[in-house]
Amino acid sequence: MNEKLNFIHGRRSIRQYTPETVDEQTIRSLLEAGMSAPSARACDPWRILVVTDRAKLDKLAEILPYGKMLRMAPLAFVVCGDLNQANSQSLSYLLQDCSAAIENILLAAHALGLGAVWLGIHPREDRVSGVKQLFGMPEEIIPVGAISLGHPAETKEARTRFKPEYVHYDQW
Ligand SMILES: Cc1cc2nc3c(=O)[nH]c(=O)nc-3n(C[C@H](O)[C@H](O)[C@H](O)COP(=O)(O)O)c2cc1C
Repeated sequence: MNEKLNFIHGRRSIRQYTPETVDEQTIRSLLEAGMSAPSARACDPWRILVVTDRAKLDKLAEILPYGKMLRMAPLAFVVCGDLNQANSQSLSYLLQDCSAAIENILLAAHALGLGAVWLGIHPREDRVSGVKQLFGMPEEIIPVGAISLGHPAETKEARTRFKPEYVHYDQW
């Protein structure tokens, strides 16, 4: 692996955290990283809900079946898209833009020494409706994915899942 790309290969899903909170300046840096992602026609449909309330984090953990680590996390983002603002009001563009923002936030968290994991919401209808209800989101707002964040209490090896057979050159 190319050492210059350690910031990419070193990003791993971190699901255990210390009790330490994440400071406001760091939260702002993560949000800025998310909102520097590519976006179709720069429509920037992303809207990000920051969750630090313990009761809300615990409720989010109940809604997301593979999000139990939120009970230990001091912070979560719910990355949403505004369908009215997406390129051509297209759900596909919204999902692509928000996914790019989520990955940027994961990479930024890793670069800042935090641990994070992407928690799927869309397209699971029960998760989408549960999250919308919990946070009182309006109709046009679509929660795409959550990110559980905190100071890491586990370490994982840098890696790539590169497989040459997944690559085609010039012709399929
Ligand atoms: C769309 C999406 C949804 C995911 N949902 C969950 C989830 O609900 N819970 C979880 O623990 N990890 C979730 N993950 C993280 C993956 O399990 C993880 O990225 C994958 O196992 C590769 O491991 P790595 O992130 O350490 O490289 C999700 C990842 C993506 C891209």
